[in-house]
Amino acid sequence: MPPTRKSRPPAPPSASRAVALSALDAVLRKGRHLAEALDRQAAFAAMTGRDRAFARLLLLTTLRRLGQIDSAIDGLLEKPLPARRAPVRDILRLGAAQLLFLGTPAHAAVDGAVALTAKSRHAALKGLVNALLRRLATQGAALLGKQDAARLNCSDWLWQSWSDCYGEQCCRAIAGAHLAEPPTDLSVKQAAPAWAARLGAELMAGGTLRLQRAGAVEALDGYEEGAWWVQDIAAALPAVLLGTVAGQHIIEIGAAPGGKTAQLASAGAHVRALDRSPARLARLRHNLDRLGLTAEIIEADGETWRPKDLADAVLLDAPCSATGTIRRHPDIMWRRQAKDVTALAARQARLLEAALEMVKPGGLLVYAVCSLEPAEGPWRIEKFLASGAAAERVAIAASEVGGRAEALTPAGDLRTLPCHLAESGGMDGFYAARLRRTF
Ligand SMILES: C[S@@+](CC[C@H](N)C(=O)[O-])C[C@H]1O[C@@H](n2cnc3c(N)ncnc32)[C@H](O)[C@@H]1O
Repeated sequence: MPPTRKSRPPAPPSASRAVALSALDAVLRKGRHLAEALDRQAAFAAMTGRDRAFARLLLLTTLRRLGQIDSAIDGLLEKPLPARRAPVRDILRLGAAQLLFLGTPAHAAVDGAVALTAKSRHAALKGLVNALLRRLATQGAALLGKQDAARLNCSDWLWQSWSDCYGEQCCRAIAGAHLAEPPTDLSVKQAAPAWAARLGAELMAGGTLRLQRAGAVEALDGYEEGAWWVQDIAAALPAVLLGTVAGQHIIEIGAAPGGKTAQLASAGAHVRALDRSPARLARLRHNLDRLGLTAEIIEADGETWRPKDLADAVLLDAPCSATGTIRRHPDIMWRRQAKDVTALAARQARLLEAALEMVKPGGLLVYAVCSLEPAEGPWRIEKFLASGAAAERVAIAASEVGGRAEALTPAGDLRTLPCHLAESGGMDGFYAARLRRTF
């Protein structure tokens, strides 16, 4: 009698894939931030460098390419997966990310997905997972070739918002910029050219250092001695708009985790760094300690807190939808909804009014958000100025922002986009307006 063919028992799932699966669920269904979704898992904390890096990369890639991945999966399913099979869809998504974008060998990606399924409450669908991913392994490249990657990986409401605000061509360029892994940007306390040479980094206009492949930043030269901190080139612009700050008393509202506080403190300002989040202020304190910089740290709600003495200038780095940072945080693409923008715009309006009350007449107020949504940027400022607030706009010159004229609006505000600086890896999307208190 011929031997009966026994199916191979599935291998246990790799720890990285199991961690990525749990984090994907936390991001997509519980609305958790990507970093938090990983950091909350004991298994992630216990991992070694390579496994940790793979778990993070797998999660980032799956979220960055979620639209393309879902379209490819749906094209191969004979009938749609019901909602109660969401964990199976997530397993397929992680498998697809490995096959289509990470170059994982097919057997490893497929076996890993089958093992996750076998361990789940959906073990009966092992066969479907196996068959679908095997087909994807052979047909994936052809499927990708027919896809509109920029459109598929962008949520409908954001595509609409950006098309309305910037035009469809620019919207497509923004969505396209989200698909590439961004470089790592560093702000240095001093001697930027020397640090650029030491780190093999590109020295950008304005003094930011750019590394295309940084790896773990803690391992880079200068980390321990606190010579620099990680900060996107666009995030470094709002603080610069306050001009020469040495000796000035500055209040920063929404200061944590401290990128802009570090800029102001290292330029010689006396900074009151205000934030309402104790956890984020702990990170700010840790960051300033590492950098050897000081600031007065205030845990308070900027809407109600008022200083005893008015500041020479105020930087309001307002809480926002952060849609300008999707290339670094692709979870934002799927977590955010249009209604969040409405709620955030109301908070921004209250904080703007409060911020103006904290600055001396004649002093500058810079309002900044890392959002691409007009309701959080120019519309907010236009409304504020039209409300009779004691403020006037002080237009920004290209020379103040590294000569980047494309990053200025006709009214003289800062408006960077992820598709700017495309030749060297893009930049985050920031909006900033500079106002002066008039009386
Ligand atoms: C865009 S982040 C700040 C980033 C920071 N300035 C930097 O450069 O690293 C906005 C911050 O505003 C804080 N925040 C939100 N609402 C606030 C409020 N009502 N009062 C004070 N801080 C607030 C959040 O906790 C968050 O840390």
